[in-house]
Amino acid sequence: MAVDLCGLELAHPVINGSGTFDVIAARRVFGPSMDENLPFSAFVSKTITLEPRLGNPPPRLFETAAGMINSIGLPNRGLAGYLEHDLPQLATLPVPLITNVMGSNADEVGQLLEALDGREEVAALELNVSCPNVKTGLDIGSDPAELTKLLAAVRGKTSKPLIVKLTPNTANVALVAAAAEASGADAVSLINTLRAFAADPARPGKAWLGGGTGGQSGPAIRAVALAQTCAVAAAIELPIVAMGGIASAANARQFLDAGALVIAVGTESFRDPAAAGAIRDELLELS
Ligand SMILES: Cc1cc2nc3c(=O)[nH]c(=O)nc-3n(C[C@H](O)[C@H](O)[C@H](O)COP(=O)(O)O)c2cc1C
Repeated sequence: MAVDLCGLELAHPVINGSGTFDVIAARRVFGPSMDENLPFSAFVSKTITLEPRLGNPPPRLFETAAGMINSIGLPNRGLAGYLEHDLPQLATLPVPLITNVMGSNADEVGQLLEALDGREEVAALELNVSCPNVKTGLDIGSDPAELTKLLAAVRGKTSKPLIVKLTPNTANVALVAAAAEASGADAVSLINTLRAFAADPARPGKAWLGGGTGGQSGPAIRAVALAQTCAVAAAIELPIVAMGGIASAANARQFLDAGALVIAVGTESFRDPAAAGAIRDELLELS
């Protein structure tokens, strides 16, 4: 089941969704056995931004009938902190490292890509375009024209494979994927979380989450993720990394059959940290 994801040779098609598996913390708990039993064929970092971010005020998670709404707010140490603290630890993982980045404008994204381009520990970059545009309030990646402009400005900043992580919060994801393909992306990943609201039962009309709205993930979004994967696979030739509510090998198989080359396990790892390993093993058995 080995796959070639834009030059990255992966032993099998199961990776993690950004921000859903803290391998540094897991290593602290499980020690070297974490590396030996790592269920992923590549590891995707949590999103890093140019400057450190504290993230959103609590509460940050709300459990829903089939998944959760998170409003974590991308807390991270910033580029310098990532390079100093996280990268040396992630670089020793036994699989290729994909660093996920996000910026609120082309200048920030360009600086991130340029700085990481020089780091041989980083095998590929994933660009999260779910950042809201300060002027329109819409995700930067929700508009094909805006994504084209962003990629035209930053694509030349790195020669590493660039995976564009599309936002599902858009009218037509296939048009955005086509814009990514035409603007030099090497692969696309989808879906990120769907914008969602958790009502506070004690305060009618008010948000339960500290950050206001959040992002729905888990089995509740699987059918949407599958529809978007089919639409994108029909529109572009680039490799697709698909995710959204994958909780079993049968789920994973549906995304692969829909045209994905690689699948990512996200929310299911919070419910059961061993889930990705079981999905990988069952896929291998079925192949
Ligand atoms: C708690 C949490 C944190 C996340 N953090 C990030 C992140 O830092 N960057 C990113 O691109 N996606 C992030 N995501 C989105 C996931 O990578 C994934 O795209 C999404 O959750 C859908 O997959 P799932 O339903 O399997 O979780 C996060 C999701 C969750 C639930």
